[in-house]
Amino acid sequence: MNRTRIGFIGAGGIAQRHLGVLEQFDDVDLVAFADVDFDRALAAAARFGARAFGSHDELLSDESLDAVYICIPPFAHGAAERAVIAKGLPFFVEKPISLDLKFAEELAAKIDAAGLITGVGYHWRYLDTVEEARRQLEQRPAQLVSGYWLDQTPPPQWWWHQDQSGGQMVEQTTHIIDLARYLVGDVTQVFAMAGHRDRADFPGLDVATVSTASLRFASGAIGNIGSTCLLNWGHRVGLHLFAEGLALELTDHDIMIDVGAGRPVRHAEGDPVWREDRDFIDAVRGAPSCIRCSYAEALKTHRIALAINQSAQTGQPIDLAAR
Ligand SMILES: NC(=O)c1ccc[n+]([C@@H]2O[C@H](COP(=O)([O-])OP(=O)(O)OC[C@H]3O[C@@H](n4cnc5c(N)ncnc54)[C@H](O)[C@@H]3O)[C@@H](O)[C@H]2O)c1
Repeated sequence: MNRTRIGFIGAGGIAQRHLGVLEQFDDVDLVAFADVDFDRALAAAARFGARAFGSHDELLSDESLDAVYICIPPFAHGAAERAVIAKGLPFFVEKPISLDLKFAEELAAKIDAAGLITGVGYHWRYLDTVEEARRQLEQRPAQLVSGYWLDQTPPPQWWWHQDQSGGQMVEQTTHIIDLARYLVGDVTQVFAMAGHRDRADFPGLDVATVSTASLRFASGAIGNIGSTCLLNWGHRVGLHLFAEGLALELTDHDIMIDVGAGRPVRHAEGDPVWREDRDFIDAVRGAPSCIRCSYAEALKTHRIALAINQSAQTGQPIDLAAR
């Protein structure tokens, strides 16, 4: 069997998650790792008998690859994607795809022109519970949406800074925004507010510590999504949807469907990241693509997250239908 040769750009936290999946695939070879923190590239390379590089340029010029995983922080996107696209390589990139909308739009156009296979890490789309929610909502479309990312502050220093992470709505709550799009459809208008509180335990943290956004959907549905990083634990991360005679609550590990006969909860089965990686590898290997979130699709979600930031900053509602 010919094996698919994968290189990684960025070998931090989320890269390890994908590696734990990809190493289970007997049709994949993990052959090269590039990280600006060379020790991280070395550690990952040692684990898989692969080669380590200090930059994406070295990795791309030295290795013959079939596809690349790009697992770098939000602020770092740009040169790596351009170089991967210039090589004509399919790539999987972690969300959020960039902090710079113009750059993401430029890339989407290049990807489209080159016909490249892409995948983006909105893995909630792969939850079997989300499939069940979609089936329920086909008959009774959601009219009201309440989304939450009420959590602790992630440790990476880049996360604390607006110009590096984009803030919580862009970096974390984007999963919930994407899920709302996946289940309810396009968003046409956002109106957001954000607040910040200095905290002694997080010196220099300048992202909003609370934020909220009202959304209007093309379907006529309306919703609100709230985020905070003020807690010391993960309190609530999920999406609630309401339709005629139906209340649904989704987290990344269960679903509750209330039709007026109690609140039955079902746990999600299987690993959505495994399914996400499998679909990407299968498409790279020539199977008809079942990828649920391409770069172009992720861009639609990302526009909403950035519009939420813009609205919070300007105090104005942002009309997305007009863009
Ligand atoms: N899909 C998910 O559920 C999920 C979960 C966690 C993180 N993420 C996303 O993954 C991205 C990375 O997060 P993380 O937790 O792995 O961060 P991390 O800080 O643990 O790792 C990022 C790695 O990228 C390296 N890096 C930075 N710039 C680079 C560059 N130009 N070239 C090569 N390497 C570079 C860093 O040295 C670091 O090793 C973020 O955008 C985050 O939102 C997604």
